[in-house]
Amino acid sequence: MKVSVKNIRETNCICDALVLPFIERDSGFYKEFGTAFQKQIMKAFSKEFHGKRNELLLMPAPEVIKPGRILLIGLGKKNELSDERIRQAGGKAAVHLRDKGMKKIAVSTNLISSLKLSPLNFIEGALLSLYKFERYRKEKDNKKIESITILLKTSKKLTEELKWTETITSSVYFARDLINTPANDMTPSDLAKTAVSLRQKNLSVKILEKKDAEKLGMGAYLSVAKGSKEPPKFIVLEYKGAKGKPAEAGKPLALIGKSITFDSGGISLKPSDGMEKMKYDMAGGAAVLGVLKAASALKLPVNLIGILPATENLPGGSATKPGDVAVTISGKTVEIINTDAEGRLILADAIGYAKRFKPRAIIDIATLTGACSVALGNEAIAMMGNDRKLLDKIKKSADNTYERVWEMPLFDEYKEYLKSDIADIKNTGGKNGSLVTAAYFLYEFAEKTPWVHLDIAGTAWVEKDKPYIPKGASGIGVRLIMDLIKHLK
Ligand code: BES
Ligand code: MN
Ligand code: ZN
Repeated sequence: MKVSVKNIRETNCICDALVLPFIERDSGFYKEFGTAFQKQIMKAFSKEFHGKRNELLLMPAPEVIKPGRILLIGLGKKNELSDERIRQAGGKAAVHLRDKGMKKIAVSTNLISSLKLSPLNFIEGALLSLYKFERYRKEKDNKKIESITILLKTSKKLTEELKWTETITSSVYFARDLINTPANDMTPSDLAKTAVSLRQKNLSVKILEKKDAEKLGMGAYLSVAKGSKEPPKFIVLEYKGAKGKPAEAGKPLALIGKSITFDSGGISLKPSDGMEKMKYDMAGGAAVLGVLKAASALKLPVNLIGILPATENLPGGSATKPGDVAVTISGKTVEIINTDAEGRLILADAIGYAKRFKPRAIIDIATLTGACSVALGNEAIAMMGNDRKLLDKIKKSADNTYERVWEMPLFDEYKEYLKSDIADIKNTGGKNGSLVTAAYFLYEFAEKTPWVHLDIAGTAWVEKDKPYIPKGASGIGVRLIMDLIKHLK
């Protein structure tokens, strides 16, 4: 897909379809198209089109202008406009035009710019919406948009912003692909290979094998891997972009992504209904890889560590049994009550490992609990953490990107829920409060290091198409964390 910027008039733009955004009940913006066209629009406005949010009307263009067709798209009420409205409009318009067989499209941006919103939101929405996962289809869909032209005066700032948008959306595609890929083709080894393929001058990748993890004492992580024949791979990426910066800025931000390439539950086996979806239990890891890929491509002035503890969770003959005790890298022992609460086990060791880098902060992103979806549905990430400043920054980025977060508490009382009769802690706190006790478990390993946990169990997979997220893996986390990094000082 080619995205370009052209400073020409709408009427002179040669394309299959020109997108014209409209505000609700306001038909007067595109006067330069001539009176005949104005009349045509007025007719539509009184009948089948009102400019309501995401409303669409495709029509033939007037003879005297160059575009073949015109797509009217509604942005909704003027006082309710936002970056997200524009993004959604971009998604709706792009999908509609693709499905109608349009190849070259152009977007009029005057209205959006006049409202002090960035037209790049429209492009972001359009690019994100056009994603398709076709790896396993013999017959691929031949309806494809080949180019999008933004009708706008170009500038250095715009070129930079466009590069940002294109890099990040392609990282979202990358993450979605990894997540949508079935577990037989996305084993820990496959994930490790993918990580290695990202190596660059500024991005190093190392894979810790099972024996390395044993030497390090990552007993909790290894306890999950025991039930599978697939070798676990503990993937570590280091991005160095902050060279020559003051020591404090040079401290890395550690990003940990849960990377269970398939979660059957282990001996505490899950019900078979819907188990096929547990290939998406590595969505956190995919997001972290996406972020490191984008950060490296954009040469961001920060240092990052990416950690993906990858393994399957299967009930093989040598699998961990409920009641077993594992020793973590930090020395703390864990009684494993439920082998299906495996995410926190691998994350506990990943957090312990991350601390060795003396990070400025740790962020973990994980499809950790079913209770997250119960609480928030598909609409928000559950966020918990021990550092108010970092929590607030993430909340800001969540609002900027519409990868929304909702904070949940870490009350001291939850500690009680995790008391084990024989070990330092147990891995489940019972049904009540299981979203927050899962996070509290991680908190016990993060301790004093600034840390935030993002539970993406409800948002990493969408059950039906959203304006710019097609059904399936959403790739959530990439845009959120990239925005956070952009605003880090
Ligand atoms: N990967 C699951 C959580 C999950 C469930 C993600 C559904 C996405 C959709 C996690 O490993 C898990 O099984 N959690 C258990 C914990 C319980 C045993 C304490 C859960 O939430 O049921
Ligand atoms: Mn599980
Ligand atoms: Zn899991």
